[in-house]
Amino acid sequence: MSASSGGARDGSARVARSGAGRDRVEVVVAPMRPRDLRGVLRIEEAVFAAPWSHRLFVEELAQRTSRAYRVAWVDTDIVGFAGLMAVDDEAHVNNVAVDPDWQGRGLGAVLVLDLVRVALERGLRHLTLEVRVGNEPALALYRRFGLSPVGVRPNYYPETGDDALVMWARDIDSDVYGRRLAAIEAAIPGDLGVTTRA
Ligand SMILES: CC(C)(COP(=O)(O)OP(=O)(O)OC[C@H]1O[C@@H](n2cnc3c(N)ncnc32)[C@H](O)[C@@H]1OP(=O)(O)O)[C@@H](O)C(=O)NCCC(=O)NCCS
Repeated sequence: MSASSGGARDGSARVARSGAGRDRVEVVVAPMRPRDLRGVLRIEEAVFAAPWSHRLFVEELAQRTSRAYRVAWVDTDIVGFAGLMAVDDEAHVNNVAVDPDWQGRGLGAVLVLDLVRVALERGLRHLTLEVRVGNEPALALYRRFGLSPVGVRPNYYPETGDDALVMWARDIDSDVYGRRLAAIEAAIPGDLGVTTRA
C-alpha cells in the first residue's frame, strides 16, 4: 500500500491496546530511501509553504557521508521524517516533519531523538538549525532538546518574509546532554512503541 493511500491513518489497522485502553502504535524509524520519497513528499507538501522537490531529496540522499535522513513508519505508512547535514563536527538539522494527522503524539520527539543519536554515531558534537519565528510546536520540541536561540536571520523564508531563529545545542556528546536524551526517551508516550533500524 502506498503511503498516500491513508488506509491505516484512522488507527483501525494498528495493533493491540495498551493497558490505558489507547491503541498502542508501533513506530519503526529507519533510513530514508529513494523509494520512500512519495510518502515523504506527501508530508513535505502538506506542512511546508516552500516544499523541497523530489529532485532535491534525491540529491540529498545521494550524499551519503554528509547527510542522514530518517523516516518514521506506522504499518505501511510514512508518518514523519527528519534529516541532517554534517558540517565539520556540527549536525545541521535540515528538516523535521510529522504528518498533520499524527502531530502532538510524540513522534516529533521520537524523530529528533533518533536524529541526535545518528549524529552522535557519526561523531558530531553540536546541533544547530533554523526555525521560523513563531513556529511554536517546533520551538517547544527544539527547546526540549536543549536548543537555544543565538540569533535571527531576517527574511529567511522568502515565501512569507518570515525571520528565522538560529538555535544551537553544544556538546551533545557530554554526560549532561546524555542525561537529557535519556529523560526525553523516558517521556515518550507509553502508547508509542519505537523500533530503530540502522
Ligand atoms: C514540529 C513538528 C515536527 C512536531 O511534531 P509532533 O509530532 O507534533 O511533536 P511532539 O508530539 O513530539 O510535540 C512536540 C512539542 O510541540 C508541542 N505542540 C504540539 N502542537 C502544538 C501547538 N499547536 N502549539 C504549541 N505547541 C504544540 C507539544 O506539546 C510538544 O511540546 P512539549 O514537548 O513541550 O510538550 C510538527 O509540528 C510538524 O511537522 N510541523 C510542521 C513542520 C515544521 O514546522 N517542522 C519544523 C521546522 S523544520
